[in-house]
Amino acid sequence: MDPGARRSFQQRYGPWALVAGASAGLGEAFARALARRGLHLLLLARRAEALQALATDLRARHGVQVRVEAADVGGADLGERVARLAAGVEVGLLVYNAAHSVIGPFLDNALEAQLRVIDVNCRGPLTLAHLLGRPMAQRGRGGLILMTSLAGSQGGPLLASYAASKAFNLVLAEGLWAELGGRGVDVLACRAGATRTPGYVSSQPKKSIRLMEATDVVEQTLSALGRGPSVVPGALNRLAAFLLVRLFPKRAAIRVMGRATRQLYG
Ligand SMILES: NC(=O)c1ccc[n+]([C@@H]2O[C@H](COP(=O)([O-])OP(=O)(O)OC[C@H]3O[C@@H](n4cnc5c(N)ncnc54)[C@H](OP(=O)(O)O)[C@@H]3O)[C@@H](O)[C@H]2O)c1
Repeated sequence: MDPGARRSFQQRYGPWALVAGASAGLGEAFARALARRGLHLLLLARRAEALQALATDLRARHGVQVRVEAADVGGADLGERVARLAAGVEVGLLVYNAAHSVIGPFLDNALEAQLRVIDVNCRGPLTLAHLLGRPMAQRGRGGLILMTSLAGSQGGPLLASYAASKAFNLVLAEGLWAELGGRGVDVLACRAGATRTPGYVSSQPKKSIRLMEATDVVEQTLSALGRGPSVVPGALNRLAAFLLVRLFPKRAAIRVMGRATRQLYG
């Protein structure tokens, strides 16, 4: 990244960024990409050791400050914990990346597990967007990135509650984009497609499909910040999104996504 672009990114979204769900996969890739741009980091995830190892590496490589917090972002105390972690620093960018997914027939999965989808995937981003968005709007600059998914553009079997939670993030980001854009805060939903991450691999898909690399998803997302309410990283994913959302009637989109999901997890 050229020094001018790095400096303007820091001025717009620095000096600190918070990544919720930063210990692995796309969240780790966001943390690395933001440290490369010179932002200091607040990193949250449940696994303290993984966070500490990442923090040590980022401090050594990029000379940035890193604070970590081993926390469950689905917890009711999320706002208080983040307020404590962020005390005394100016957070100019939030990346809400953590997600809980429940795969399988809706009626066979425990209700508690599916309610946790709401805590981690909906309550968490709403809480942090509210907590961190206010000082950003007061300063007249900042950014909020919410990770959503192509799965959130229509309902789908075997991951109905996860897909619904991703739709929540997409619509939340679109609304905040419209509301906060005029106050200098860029809001973006990243509608990612299948990406090579520990989370994807551990979901044990039955069929191998083309995956994007996490670093590509992250770079395309950061480039899109400030340019519109949502981004679909990857040309093939953009084509799929165009067909599913703009071209196909809703029933057909649900059927097509459903077929793909059943091939992976049925
Ligand atoms: N990979 C894909 O194919 C794909 C496709 C579309 C959208 N997405 C979205 O992209 C985001 C990241 O996905 P990923 O595949 O990178 O996931 P991942 O490999 O499972 O990593 C998830 C990260 O979030 C953290 N996390 C999960 N639950 C948490 C909780 N309750 N509290 C705190 N931290 C938590 C995990 O750390 P700990 O385990 O240490 O807590 C980890 O750092 C998600 O929002 C997902 O919906 C992914």
